[in-house]
Amino acid sequence: MTTNLILRLIDVEKRYKQGQDEVIALHKSKLEIEEGEFVVIMGTSGSGKTTLLNIIGGMIAPTAGAVYLRDKKIKYDTKHSEQLSEYRRKEIGVVFQDFNLIEAMTVSENVAIPLILDGEAASVIIEKTESMLKQVGLEKRGSFRPYELSGGQQQRVALARALVKQPSILLADEPTGNLDYNTSKEILELLLEIKNKDRQTIVMVTHDPMMAAYGERILFMHDGHVYEELKLSKEMSSGQKRETIITAFYSMKGMSSS
Ligand SMILES: Nc1ncnc2c1ncn2[C@@H]1O[C@H](COP(=O)(O)OP(=O)(O)O)[C@@H](O)[C@H]1O
Ligand SMILES: [Mg+2]
Repeated sequence: MTTNLILRLIDVEKRYKQGQDEVIALHKSKLEIEEGEFVVIMGTSGSGKTTLLNIIGGMIAPTAGAVYLRDKKIKYDTKHSEQLSEYRRKEIGVVFQDFNLIEAMTVSENVAIPLILDGEAASVIIEKTESMLKQVGLEKRGSFRPYELSGGQQQRVALARALVKQPSILLADEPTGNLDYNTSKEILELLLEIKNKDRQTIVMVTHDPMMAAYGERILFMHDGHVYEELKLSKEMSSGQKRETIITAFYSMKGMSSS
């Protein structure tokens, strides 16, 4: 079987200066992600999950190491800021815990923002926005404002906005952190559907083993290290997957407090 790497991190490291001190948010890390893969990142608070996600997304620059999208090296230095912002716009879609929708805009307008910024023709914007809203089950909510929607519906809008330009990688930082269990499951079912239908590559951070069980591979982070990796076989039932993840996650948490 040939593998099709979409993302490669080589010895990526992130340090922050805090006065005289230095915080190592991410120790030298290697990571390879295949096209169409659904990767989950779990770990205790402050373990570097968001740092890792934001480096992949081009939102922050690593202190050392290299990141490749397919065979192209991401250039984070200020000389290439235009190229980097193009990378963020074209290759990356992002959803956050708190949805980050623009309240003054309608649902359709929110979804259309990336297309408008790209200077797409009005007809294209309308067509892609409508089709995306349909995919997330909100075709009847285009003229609503975000505050008129439930949390789960707002996250669907955010997801539609993140995917409307068909990014190479979807990054999701605790996307269900503000949602109840059933709504969270609905969002994960939707992510899985999009992954299966469009072969969308997804990297998701979550604290919740139940949500992590939707992924194919789980990276456990602790204190700036990607310290364990768990592959979930297709043959496992969802109940088995969850048990395995829960056990691994809590044994890791036990380690961190010792
Ligand atoms: N901008 C920053 N300046 C200084 N330290 C930071 C900054 N961002 C994150 N950190 C530190 O890096 C570590 C990892 O943070 P983060 O990636 O946000 O963790 P997580 O998402 O797993 O909770 C933490 O110790 C955090 O305090
Ligand atoms: Mg975080």
